[in-house]
Amino acid sequence: MGQGKGFGKVILFNEHFVVYGIPSIVSAIGDYTTVKVIRQEAVSELEAGEIFIKDNRPETPGYKSSKVHQQKRSLELMLKHAHARLGSNALMVELGGDLLTASGIGASAASCAGFARALNEEFALDMDDKAINRTAYEGEKAYHGTPSGVDNTAATYGGLIQFTKGKISKFRRIKIPNPVEIVMGNTGLVTDTKNAVAGVKKRKEKHLKKYARIFKEARKLAPLARSALEAGDLRTIGKLMFEDHRLLREIEVSCSELDHLVDIARTNGAYGAKMTGGGLGGYMVALTPGQELQDKVADAIADEGVAVLRTKIGVKNES
Ligand code: MEV
Repeated sequence: MGQGKGFGKVILFNEHFVVYGIPSIVSAIGDYTTVKVIRQEAVSELEAGEIFIKDNRPETPGYKSSKVHQQKRSLELMLKHAHARLGSNALMVELGGDLLTASGIGASAASCAGFARALNEEFALDMDDKAINRTAYEGEKAYHGTPSGVDNTAATYGGLIQFTKGKISKFRRIKIPNPVEIVMGNTGLVTDTKNAVAGVKKRKEKHLKKYARIFKEARKLAPLARSALEAGDLRTIGKLMFEDHRLLREIEVSCSELDHLVDIARTNGAYGAKMTGGGLGGYMVALTPGQELQDKVADAIADEGVAVLRTKIGVKNES
């Protein structure tokens, strides 16, 4: 049997812009997905090469059923990429862990990184983290179409990372003086990242001038955010998160539910808040240093009937 895990993530700056080579900042969170795989002698010819999935991950209603085809395709892409041949065997895959399957929290990337690690063990493929990440990226294609690679990088390596997509994508670790409390609020809306990314592309091609201005602002924001994180300047990080949310609204990937959660976080004293991930639903993240503020914001968001996750950025993840 092979086993592996992949971390959930929260994008702190520049989702969507990252697809176009603008630096983004992402943090893995403590919650993760576990994957177990085992080859079994197929009982019939029909079963040879088949993948059987038992998905025990906790779920946002509707998430798993809406992604079931993408999930199967994703596993096939990763098997192919890793040259892991099933021959006369079938493959049993079991997913678990505490990461909620929801949009915006890196559920697909976490499962891909976990699966790549599990395959590595089961087939003795001798992959290092770079090869695991590359395999997870391949799996992400089934969910995202043309993923930037930010999600699988966080899911594979953990920690706080600046990620820039390019011919050769670059990532560098960001050291923050201390882990910081955040609150994540789940709108419960399951979305398709592929559609959200395609929408931005279409509008960007139509409104050239407007989008050039917005993208310029997003590019300026990235180094400021990194410096503020490294300096532990929480007020500036928060201010920049609100700024980033404004830009994401302008490219129309937010929605009224996300804007509402951002407003509640702001009213209750969060240093910053924004949508996170593909948008159009999924998660909002608020920067809430200290447990008292974290509880205050989390309670206010939970009062809206929204599922809330209290976690931290800048923690060390053990893979
Ligand atoms: C999704 O978590 C992040 C996006 O920027 C897509 C991507 O980077 O592939 C929306």
